[in-house]
Amino acid sequence: MKERILVTGATGNVGRELVRILAERGAAVIAGVTSEDKARALEAQGVAAEVFSFSDDESLKRIMEGKKRLFLLLPFKEGMKRWGLAALAAARAAGVEHVVRSSGLLADTEAHFQLGKVHGGIDDALEKSGLPFTILRPNVFMQNYVRAQSAEIREHNRFSLPEAEARVSRIDARDIAACAAAVLLDPAEHAGRTYLLTGPEALSGEDVAAVLSEESGRTIAYRPLSEEQAREAWLAAGLPEWNVNMLLGLARQVREGVMALVTGAVKHLSGREPIPFRLFARDFRRSWSS
Ligand SMILES: NC(=O)c1ccc[n+]([C@@H]2O[C@H](COP(=O)([O-])OP(=O)(O)OC[C@H]3O[C@@H](n4cnc5c(N)ncnc54)[C@H](OP(=O)(O)O)[C@@H]3O)[C@@H](O)[C@H]2O)c1
Repeated sequence: MKERILVTGATGNVGRELVRILAERGAAVIAGVTSEDKARALEAQGVAAEVFSFSDDESLKRIMEGKKRLFLLLPFKEGMKRWGLAALAAARAAGVEHVVRSSGLLADTEAHFQLGKVHGGIDDALEKSGLPFTILRPNVFMQNYVRAQSAEIREHNRFSLPEAEARVSRIDARDIAACAAAVLLDPAEHAGRTYLLTGPEALSGEDVAAVLSEESGRTIAYRPLSEEQAREAWLAAGLPEWNVNMLLGLARQVREGVMALVTGAVKHLSGREPIPFRLFARDFRRSWSS
């Protein structure tokens, strides 16, 4: 019998694509989702799904039962560290045999930014848990332009971020999924390893604006924000204060230039070159069309 693989975050940027790849490869994938409606929608596409919530210990216990491999991705919410630790405890009790953890670049218990410490704390607990593991630490996602910046791009032909002139090797979430799939399908090969996942090049806000302009056929500008302007804008957009503080800390790292490193890990794991920003911009062109 095929080993059953549980994918958490299965409706998100990374998880949705990971479930698709694993199903396509014929793996026994189970999507962990937060509602019956979402489970039914996936089942209609031929994907097995089970309902749980990271905030409900009983449901965590239930969903881990009978799963041999776990893709652990926590939602970007205040409870994420607590939920990560609870998920690891449930995985251990259920006898999960390999955990692939989706973390974040520069995560460390001693990181210089709070979100790095949160992710680093979960990674550290996994390393000490006795569970066989692989940790993926991806850089900032290209998909953030779709989720957080596309309305401003469509309505005002610009995007605003507190990143000054810094360059970032943003990664397409589809590449993270491809790497996670490779590890989940052959975990022994990657046991005990941590991979830093980046896109193929480090781009500044100006570089991104130039690509978006070319791909959309109109001028799209980058507007650098001060930290205070970003705080105000994000709170006004409805982001919880915890998330705003985490993002401002991350943006400080970006401005220091440390998120510009480029690694070969995507090619090493997935066997193909990472997706360049231009291709991402083309694939998501509907998000930029005015
Ligand atoms: N965005 C970036 O630039 C970036 C960079 C590096 C690392 N990361 C990390 O990547 C993760 C986010 O990945 P993503 O963008 O793929 O996720 P996402 O698109 O934000 O989706 C979050 C997923 O978590 C699920 N979820 C929410 N609350 C839940 C709960 N209580 N119990 C179980 N599942 C729950 C959501 O399910 P529903 O659809 O049911 O809500 C959804 O599938 C975070 O840990 C973030 O820190 C992000």
